[in-house]
Amino acid sequence: MMKFLVLAALLAVTAFAAENEVVWTLDHTNYSQIISQHKMIVVQFYAPWCGYCQQLEPKYEEAASVLSNHDPPVILAKMDTTILENAELARNFTINGVPSIKIFRNGGKTVHDYKGTRETEGIIAYLKKHGGPASLEIKTEKDAATFIDEKKIVVAGIFPQLSLEKIINFTTLAEDLRVDYDFVHTLDAKLLPRGGLVDKPTIRLLKPYDELYADFEDFQIEAMQNFIEETSVPIMAILDDNPENQQFVNHFLHSPGDKVFLFLNFSTDLDAFKIKYYDLALSYKGKETNFLLGDAESGKKALQYFGLDTDQTPLIFVLTMGSTKYVQRHVQPDNLASWLKDCKDGKLKPYLKSQPIPEFNNETVKVVVAETLEDMVFNSGKDGFTVGVLSTWV
Ligand SMILES: *[C@@H]1O[C@H](CO)[C@@H](O)[C@H](O)[C@H]1NC(C)=O
Ligand SMILES: *[C@@H]1O[C@H](CO)[C@@H](O)[C@H](O)[C@H]1NC(C)=O
Ligand SMILES: *[C@@H]1O[C@H](CO)[C@@H](O)[C@H](O)[C@H]1NC(C)=O
Ligand SMILES: *[C@@H]1O[C@H](CO)[C@@H](O)[C@H](O)[C@H]1NC(C)=O
Ligand SMILES: *[C@@H]1O[C@H](CO)[C@@H](O)[C@H](O)[C@H]1NC(C)=O
Repeated sequence: MMKFLVLAALLAVTAFAAENEVVWTLDHTNYSQIISQHKMIVVQFYAPWCGYCQQLEPKYEEAASVLSNHDPPVILAKMDTTILENAELARNFTINGVPSIKIFRNGGKTVHDYKGTRETEGIIAYLKKHGGPASLEIKTEKDAATFIDEKKIVVAGIFPQLSLEKIINFTTLAEDLRVDYDFVHTLDAKLLPRGGLVDKPTIRLLKPYDELYADFEDFQIEAMQNFIEETSVPIMAILDDNPENQQFVNHFLHSPGDKVFLFLNFSTDLDAFKIKYYDLALSYKGKETNFLLGDAESGKKALQYFGLDTDQTPLIFVLTMGSTKYVQRHVQPDNLASWLKDCKDGKLKPYLKSQPIPEFNNETVKVVVAETLEDMVFNSGKDGFTVGVLSTWV
């Protein structure tokens, strides 16, 4: 009884402290406890000296105040990573620098990167969506039109017969991957914009490119996740100034396997290369190799990041799973296939760029490389989520 009263008193104090602030302040004394008590809480890891953090602060506060009135309320919090006692707790979340915004769910059991913009409206819209259910039910044609964005990847669970375990697995997966994909579910495949009717529970991935949709019937969580990740990487991702292509570039960057980049000037060289490169990409389908076709202008920062330059285009660049790099500057369309074959056969000399050895394990390095590229290089538009500390390990 005594214990209970003490706990109740502690909780009351916590609630009181938090009530006075729109953005909750977390530190090493209450971080774990507060995260473990909430189904969803958003935490910004910041440093007072960082300019991006300072710019973000008023917008984050404004968003927090709007979202505190949302039903259900969304809690926004922050943690100062420069306070010594907080630093150890924050370390795993600031590998790419500050500010770093993470979404903690289910008492901190799952953690996702915030992938929205840094503008007030963007933060509100993103977190409203992510505060709602992970998968939306489609009951009518109108629901389908509202919930399915034809320009995005949408994963649909189709359940013509009741199978509780499959529904639970689908929901678990949706919770896990909701930041990267939209999820919907329905009893009736007829309501979906593409694909035929099904009589068994089915996962249908809808995408605006390549084969447009793909079905899958295995409801084991790992199998569904692999299916979604593999199916969503386009045969050839396009990097240009069209923001709608961005999500596919991100799937490319995070895909497992070797990455092939071809950079050229879209206004002069696209016609000569496009079909040959696409055919090459197609011939490597299922062989753990993914392809990106980038405009030299849009890819300028990426090129610089790799120590290359737009005046060396048309340029083909390979980044292998083991982070080895190969490059051929001023490549000709007819040489793409033979060059890539030599590269795969180990006949080429790697391209070296001086690089500090990161102290993380290989898996972390790969994640850091993909996220750093995504943040620093490919998403560096006005609304992009540029990080305050530059990492240069590629
Ligand atoms: C966490 O503890 C700090 C320091 O005691 C306090 O300023 C802050 O308000 C607490 N946060 C919450 C949400 O209770
Ligand atoms: C940081 O990540 C490592 C490895 O995943 C884990 O063992 C450790 O507990 C994490 N630290 C904190 C403070 O969460
Ligand atoms: C649900 O997922 C678990 C974990 O992947 C798996 O063991 C189980 O077989 C799945 N259930 C169904 C009905 O597929
Ligand atoms: C692409 O070609 C056009 C036309 O020749 C030229 O104006 C533009 O500067 C080139 N872009 C780059 C990045 O070299
Ligand atoms: C990282 O990969 C390299 C070669 O791919 C291997 O030699 C090394 O042991 C790996 N390191 C760790 C920590 O897994």
